[in-house]
Amino acid sequence: MTKLKVGVVGCGSIAKFRHLPEYAMNKEVEIAAVCDIVEERANEMADKYGGKAYADYKLMLAEADLDLVSVCTPNYLHAPISIDALKAGKHVLCEKPMATKEEEAQNMIQAAKESGKKLMIAHNQRFVPSHKKAKEMIESGQVGKIFSFRTAFGHGGPEGWSVDGKDSWFFEKEKAFIGAMGDLGVHKTDLMRYILGEEFVEVGSFVESGAKEDSTVDDQAVCILKTESGIIGTLAASWAYGKEDNSTVIYGEKAVLRLEDDPEYSLIVHHRNGETETFDLGKIQSNDEGGQTSTHVIDTFVDCVVNNSEPPINGEEGRKSLKVVLAALESSETKKIVQVTK
Ligand SMILES: NC(=O)c1ccc[n+]([C@@H]2O[C@H](COP(=O)([O-])OP(=O)(O)OC[C@H]3O[C@@H](n4cnc5c(N)ncnc54)[C@H](O)[C@@H]3O)[C@@H](O)[C@H]2O)c1
Repeated sequence: MTKLKVGVVGCGSIAKFRHLPEYAMNKEVEIAAVCDIVEERANEMADKYGGKAYADYKLMLAEADLDLVSVCTPNYLHAPISIDALKAGKHVLCEKPMATKEEEAQNMIQAAKESGKKLMIAHNQRFVPSHKKAKEMIESGQVGKIFSFRTAFGHGGPEGWSVDGKDSWFFEKEKAFIGAMGDLGVHKTDLMRYILGEEFVEVGSFVESGAKEDSTVDDQAVCILKTESGIIGTLAASWAYGKEDNSTVIYGEKAVLRLEDDPEYSLIVHHRNGETETFDLGKIQSNDEGGQTSTHVIDTFVDCVVNNSEPPINGEEGRKSLKVVLAALESSETKKIVQVTK
């Protein structure tokens, strides 16, 4: 069997803890190249996983015989690297947030269309078992009409995760563009679009900074959101929570669903008739536990390439989630409720 050859650009934490180990476990794939501007990081990953180490992704694209590319770099490089890789005829898995501007997202989608290659965005929250189960329950009508939700993603900040610690690009506006709202808020935006099966049409928000020293990006956000059918909810993203909160509560006509809100059960369903059901569906992947649980992102991406099917989280999905985040930033700046256009 000829294996698909992958090149991973960026050898920081997400590559080290998720992309590279998950590609290494996938039988369809061979790690053929790794790239990081910090040469020793690329060398270290090449020693561990095989493949050739590069310091320049353009050279990697020109020289290495690759089928797939994972983009695991700071946010401002997602669009240029993804577009170059797509133009070079590679299928691309790009980390979130997809881009820093809508125009960039559109250009990425266009490059995928023109090259006929797949573009997937790594919104791994969709693959969490409790999240999938909640979506199934809602679709089957067990929860009835959905009225509202609250969702949060917060932890102590990227200094505890990024390979560069407190000196990380995550705190630099030119490289990150968005802080906690882009890092964590975009995950929950995408998750709620997925679970509810609806688009957000209006957003109001406070996007604040001040929790981190030496940072030029936001570190806390609280948003109110409304979907096309009128479901209203709150979304919080923070780098100032001492302990991780990755929870979602959905309030429906027939039941309340508590997702990742209990240390023991990943899903608790409070039915309106007074009954409570508990589900232990396995732990949500957390930065604290570093790669012990598969995100299913890599396997899904590889399956889509092998079976020539459209990735479930394609460029258009990434663009729609990014648009909500951009609308939240605009709302906070203008102190107005912002309409999210299509
Ligand atoms: N899906 C998730 O749950 C999740 C979790 C964490 C991070 N991420 C995303 O993954 C991306 C990377 O984050 P991270 O946590 O690995 O950051 P990190 O700071 O740990 O690593 C980034 C790496 O990129 C390298 N780099 C910078 N410029 C480069 C270039 N031009 N060419 C090659 N390499 C370059 C840096 O040297 C560094 O090693 C970010 O977009 C982030 O939002 C996603």
